Amino acid sequence: MSRGKFIALEGGEGAGKSTQARLVAEALRARGIEVVTTREPGGTQGAEAIRNLLLHAEGDGWGARAEALLFAAARADHVEKLIRPALERGAWVICDRYLDSSRAYQGGGSGLSDADIRTLHAIGSEGLLPDLTLLFEVSPEVSGARLARRDTEGTDRIGGREAAYHARVAEAFARFAEAEPARFARIDGNGTPEQTVAHAMAALEPLIAALPEPRT
Ligand code: TYD
Repeated sequence: MSRGKFIALEGGEGAGKSTQARLVAEALRARGIEVVTTREPGGTQGAEAIRNLLLHAEGDGWGARAEALLFAAARADHVEKLIRPALERGAWVICDRYLDSSRAYQGGGSGLSDADIRTLHAIGSEGLLPDLTLLFEVSPEVSGARLARRDTEGTDRIGGREAAYHARVAEAFARFAEAEPARFARIDGNGTPEQTVAHAMAALEPLIAALPEPRT
């Protein structure tokens, strides 16, 4: 049994990642691939507890460094208990957000250095990187309209930060994709979910084509 592929979905708020995680997983299963879908922060019991601390805790919130450490700790638990074991038994893992969210939010948004965030990742998760990261990019008008529909009950501590913060996050993601074109596929997320999943599957096709037959 060969190791499964690790696919991360990234993008700003309202980019459509969660819908795409579901649609990409369905499309891969239809091709005979075992798929585990998960999300960050979270995915395991411990990481979901940290998610709650990060996004919904009472009080005055976290400084940028404490926040980065908590994301790295949640990721460490997620990688150790869910992601690595799934990949090792041959399943593909589709993860809604991963390391590049820490680089974009705690780095681009909050100003921590990329080197520090990568060091935390090396310590926490032995530097595990996705085989491919799908970066969903949408115009500010499209994400604004989606968030207005989704967040009628209010947003979380990070999603609710000011527009300039989210603009820095979007710029950071674009910079990462330019710097490492082999690790990222930039996906136009402005269309319908069906159009977007077709772009995402086109980006995954080389990984699927490289699988040994049969894939049952
Ligand atoms: P979530 O409700 O999952 O948001 P979304 O649907 O936009 O993915 O909340 C996750 C929030 O946490 C989101 O605002 C991005 C932020 N985040 C970071 O700041 N750093 C990280 O490393 C991760 C994984 C998420």
